[in-house]
Formats: sequence, C-alpha cells, structure tokens
Amino acid sequence: MRLTEILKEKAKAAKRRIVLPEGDEPRTVKAAEIVRGEGIAETVLLTAESVAGDKAKLEAYADALYEIRKAKGLSREKAAELVMDPMYYGMMMVKEGDADGLVSGAVHSTGDMLRPALQVIRTAPGMKLVSSSFIMESANRAVGEDGLFVYADCVVNPCPDAEGLAHIAVAAAETARKLCGIAEPRVAMLSFSTKGSANHELVEKVRSAVEIAHGLRPDLLLDGELQFDAAVVPSVAALKAPGSKVAGRANVFVFPDLQAGNIGYKITQRLGGVECFAVLQGLAKPCNDLSRGCSVDDIVSTVAATAVQA
Ligand code: ACO
Repeated sequence: MRLTEILKEKAKAAKRRIVLPEGDEPRTVKAAEIVRGEGIAETVLLTAESVAGDKAKLEAYADALYEIRKAKGLSREKAAELVMDPMYYGMMMVKEGDADGLVSGAVHSTGDMLRPALQVIRTAPGMKLVSSSFIMESANRAVGEDGLFVYADCVVNPCPDAEGLAHIAVAAAETARKLCGIAEPRVAMLSFSTKGSANHELVEKVRSAVEIAHGLRPDLLLDGELQFDAAVVPSVAALKAPGSKVAGRANVFVFPDLQAGNIGYKITQRLGGVECFAVLQGLAKPCNDLSRGCSVDDIVSTVAATAVQA
C-alpha cells in the first residue's frame, strides 16, 4: 500500500480536526469535501467572512495572541487586527486547542505561512528549531526504503549552521521513523565531498554537523560527509566510503542548505517522476505548508499526514 493510503487509514482512526485557513480556494474546498467524505478528518474551512462572524472567539484569540507576542512589541490593537486574518485565526485555533492541526499554502507563500506558525505555535519542548522533511515516494521499490525516502530541509532554514544541520538530521530521522514507518533511518549528510575528498569551509560545516549529531543521538545510523552517489550506490560507497553503515543504503538525506535541498527535491520530483509532500517538524503542534502548485490530492495527503502527526 502507498504511504499516503496508509496515512489516510491512520488518520481515520485518529479522528482529528484540521483547520484550512484558505477556505474559499477551490482546490482546498474540493479537498475538504474528499477528506470529510472519506472520514479522514474533520475539517474547518476559514474565510475572512466566517472569521469576522465569531466576535467572541475573535476577542479571546486577540487576548491570547497579545499575551504570546506582547514581549515582542505586539499591541492589543494589532493583535485584534491580526486575528481577523484567517491564517492567524487558524493558528490561534490550533494554539488554543480548538483544532488539532493546520494545512495552508495553496495561496499563501511558504514564508507567509511559516512566520505565523513560528510566532504563535513555536517550537516543541526540547526542539532547537523548526525544519521540514519531504517524504519522497518512488514507484521504483529498489531505491530508499522500498521506494520511500526523506529529504531535509527543503522548506524552512535558508542557511543552517552546523548545529542547526545536526538538529535537522535528527528531526528528519524521527519523521522517517514515526510518519513513514521506516524502522531503521540511515541518515546521509550530503556534500560535494565524500570523507575528505575535498576541503572547503562548506564541507567543514557538514563534518561538524556529523560530529554534533553523533553527540545528540549516538544510537542513530548517520554518516557524512557524503556525495549523493556515495550515499545511494553501493559500488560507489565501497570505493569512496568503505566500512560506512550508511553509504550506499541511505534512506534519509540531509542537504547542507536550502538552495541545495529545494533544488534537489524538485529535480527528483520533476525529472525522476517521484511523488512527494512536505511536513514541518519541530513545531509544538502540526501545521503544514502546501506548494502553490499543489493538486487536490496533495492537499488531501497533507491533511492526512497532519492528522497523523497530531
Ligand atoms: N525554527 C524556529 N524558530 C524560527 C526559525 C526556525 N527555523 N526561523 C525563524 N524562527 C523564529 C525567530 O526566532 C522569530 O521568533 P520571534 O519573533 O519570537 O523572535 C520568528 O521565527 C520570526 O523570525 P524572523 O527571523 O524574523 O523571520 P524571517 O523573516 O527570517 O522568516 C522564515 C523565517 C519564514 C522561516 C524564513 O527563513 C523563510 O522565508 N524561509 C524560507 C521559506 C521558503 O521560501 N522556502 C522555499 C519554498 S518552499 C517549497 O518550495 C515547497
């Protein structure tokens, strides 16, 4: 069974309530019908009109948002204005427990969805930063873990430092385990160098990240720095990284920065014909971003994944 089908089945059992702040966007409306019809989750479609109609909630959410952000200089007046925006209203629903998760991004840019999530929902206890994993599913079952593999971070952090990169790697391994059911995540820390074949400060950053990640999670199968071919092709791994428990058989790929990660996932998707969707990791409650080019099916899959994360 494909992962999206598994996630839909799990979501049905979880019975979560997912808020969709782009409630008058046609693909979102259609996806919500499917989600409701198949019993994947309860959905709440927000529009500027529906939000404006609930004066009591607006007051309560404005008070709560003001409390969260006043130390950052947000006035009560500005908080009242912000919660009129379905995106902030939706975030407040999740924050206050009126919904279990949020899916948005068919209209809004990634930054416009991420900023309120980072400001309102914030990082989960113990997490250093919010990042993303792209869940990649290939029809070729010989690649990754029976066709499944994870790319990180392709959405959030433009230029993570070594420590950030290490935390992204650990979070992606957990997403692979918990959401994709990959029992043994094998994490490749990608670079243009394999095990010292090149020297540059960019390579040094990846090497430092490997050391930090080993310190954070000594139990995790994680290795680097590795070029992509050394990470996935056993014969290349045998030449370039002999003895590595990850090289040649990686199923989680951590890119050194957002340029590499974002370009990498789109090449895999568009030229490799691989299906994919993204989830955010490290937020206190699940909120997920769509690509503005998303299909109705993409929205349904992302709602299912969000319900499972919740
Ligand atoms: N984890 C946790 N908190 C974070 C993170 C993070 N990764 N990044 C920023 N924050 C926090 C900040 O600490 C700050 O908190 P505070 O206001 O309480 O002090 C708040 O979020 C806002 O941070 P800023 O640095 O002011 O926000 P910025 O304008 O840099 O925006 C953002 C952050 C939106 C994540 C930005 O880095 C960004 O635009 N990233 C790239 C998004 C993107 O375009 N991705 C590619 C397309 S996606 C696709 O193709 C599928």
